Amino acid sequence: MADDMMRVLGISGSLREGSYNTALLRAAGEMLPAGMTLDIVTVGDLPLFNQDLLMPEPPEPVRRFKARVAAADALLFAAPEYNYSISGVLKNAIDWGSRPLAQNVFDGKPAALMGATTGLMGTARVQLHLRQIGVFVNLLILNQPQVLIARAAEKFDDAGRLTDEPTREHVRKLLVALDAWVRRLNPR
Ligand SMILES: Cc1cc2nc3c(=O)[nH]c(=O)nc-3n(C[C@H](O)[C@H](O)[C@H](O)COP(=O)(O)O)c2cc1C
Repeated sequence: MADDMMRVLGISGSLREGSYNTALLRAAGEMLPAGMTLDIVTVGDLPLFNQDLLMPEPPEPVRRFKARVAAADALLFAAPEYNYSISGVLKNAIDWGSRPLAQNVFDGKPAALMGATTGLMGTARVQLHLRQIGVFVNLLILNQPQVLIARAAEKFDDAGRLTDEPTREHVRKLLVALDAWVRRLNPR
């Protein structure tokens, strides 16, 4: 961690304007522990992954995305559940970031997961899939607490603000745990 600030990069798996998951990242940005910053990167400008485009160097949006991931002390994913798994745009971003394998930007990167769904299972299935992907790209994903937000429409207002206080408290706990996780992995 340069200059004692912990730089977290938020990655939303939804490109939707009114996305609950992007709104969840914005809510996290309102309750950061002291010394933590959160930037949110969009993955919407990445082309579809094509291995032919890796050489001689990947397209500009990919290079920009990888540089932002590389510069972050930790990643905070907000993952929608699509058909019991991760959204195509998020998988696309992870695939780009992980290749060429010798320049896998996720290797050894601390991370935490959150997810919001309008459904009842709170993104439990996508989070397990994301953890599985994390094994191969060697993300160091925090295990607990799990932020699984079901019935999102009842927890955010029409302006996309997370209004449910127990859920806000849960997100706050995740951020505190992420702070401790990064410090544990990078002892000074
Ligand atoms: C293609 C598609 C598949 C979906 N599959 C699931 C699912 O498997 N489980 C679930 O809980 N919600 C599912 N949903 C509902 C999403 O959780 C809901 O649309 C949510 O708002 C998406 O996140 P966002 O608000 O960040 O865009 C699906 C939605 C779409 C568009």
